[in-house]
Amino acid sequence: MQTYTLTVEPLGAEIQCRADQTVLDACLREGIWLPHACTHGTCGTCKAQVLEGELDLGDASPYALLDSERDEGAALICVATPKGDVTIEGEVDADVGVVVHPVRDYSGVVESLDDVAPGVRRLRIRLTEPLRFNPGQYVQLNLPSGENRPYSLASNPAEGELIELHVKRTADGAATDGWIFKDLAVKDEVSLSGPYGRFSFRPARTEKVLLLAGGTGLAPMKSIISHIASAGAQHEVVLYHGVATAEDLYEDSWLEGFAAEHDWFDYRPAVSRQEHNGRSGRVPALLAEDFPRAAGNVAYICGSPEFVTDTMKALMKARLFPRDIYREDFFDSADRAAGSTVVRSPLIRR
Ligand SMILES: Cc1cc2nc3c(=O)[nH]c(=O)nc-3n(C[C@H](O)[C@H](O)[C@H](O)COP(=O)(O)OP(=O)(O)OC[C@H]3O[C@@H](n4cnc5c(N)ncnc54)[C@H](O)[C@@H]3O)c2cc1C
Ligand code: FES
Repeated sequence: MQTYTLTVEPLGAEIQCRADQTVLDACLREGIWLPHACTHGTCGTCKAQVLEGELDLGDASPYALLDSERDEGAALICVATPKGDVTIEGEVDADVGVVVHPVRDYSGVVESLDDVAPGVRRLRIRLTEPLRFNPGQYVQLNLPSGENRPYSLASNPAEGELIELHVKRTADGAATDGWIFKDLAVKDEVSLSGPYGRFSFRPARTEKVLLLAGGTGLAPMKSIISHIASAGAQHEVVLYHGVATAEDLYEDSWLEGFAAEHDWFDYRPAVSRQEHNGRSGRVPALLAEDFPRAAGNVAYICGSPEFVTDTMKALMKARLFPRDIYREDFFDSADRAAGSTVVRSPLIRR
């Protein structure tokens, strides 16, 4: 396969990139940090400027990369591949206190596959070598078809050989309906790459931590609290888990036990369609009741794009500003096709 020289400014770093490899992939494998979130051309986080040479823009969503931006030489580098030697300019600064772990390929075996709630599977994969990642990051799981899908890591980074994923079934979804909830079985071999994503716990921030999860958005939050516990618990944490009915509250007894053992951790289920523990409501509503003023906290939100946007709005109404909010949107193919309402929200910050 033909390879080209990729120069990344303002670092002036020169690396090799295969003709079939995305620019982002080449950078992350060399430990060059560039911002990214969805890695599927949907969110626009990885937008970079081409200074010299030409990129094949790949499957960039027209909502995330407008025609005018294409004309001005911008590219979504998570889907763009080189057509020759190329120079790009990106936002290369990683956040303070966040270690950059280069992306690698991993293989492993499914150790367990449990139905933990209606339409939710917990998948544990034993890897042949430990995956190093920051709590909150995700992997790309390779499907038998050759496609891949992002899934957040729910496990403690200290136990990198046995990773855990929480997967929600999506009707007609290639990865879920067509594989993970159909043929995938214990002892099957799987492959993946990682770690990816900018959504990760910021240890340097000392404020009270609000973890706001919708559905399987609980996965990165579990990783974060496990990490905080094993790192010596310097943070006070409140976790809200938003679901429709009490039956959907997976990991509930583990979280209750964890809260009983750790006085720095408070677990608040948010059940929207029925009363649970004397309360009922979606995460944004319960947050508004509990934190009418949220300034002075730092928040991490994860779940469907609608959940993330609604929760972010509630926080901003309570005077918490975007610089204090980190978000991971679980975009899927339908969100990508729907495009603009999610991607062009003025509230987006990743
Ligand atoms: C950073 C990140 C982390 C994530 N982490 C998790 C996680 O931890 N847990 C989790 O459960 N999910 C997570 N997701 C979502 C996950 O990656 C998948 O998108 C999800 O599991 C659905 O995948 P699928 O292959 O089953 O569905 P897809 O095949 O992608 O289809 C999804 C839906 O879109 C419809 N669709 C497909 N193509 C089109 C089209 N062209 N137009 C309109 N509709 C279409 C399908 O019918 C289906 O209903 C994450 C996503 C991101 C971006
Ligand atoms: S990371 Fe490239 S568009 Fe989302």
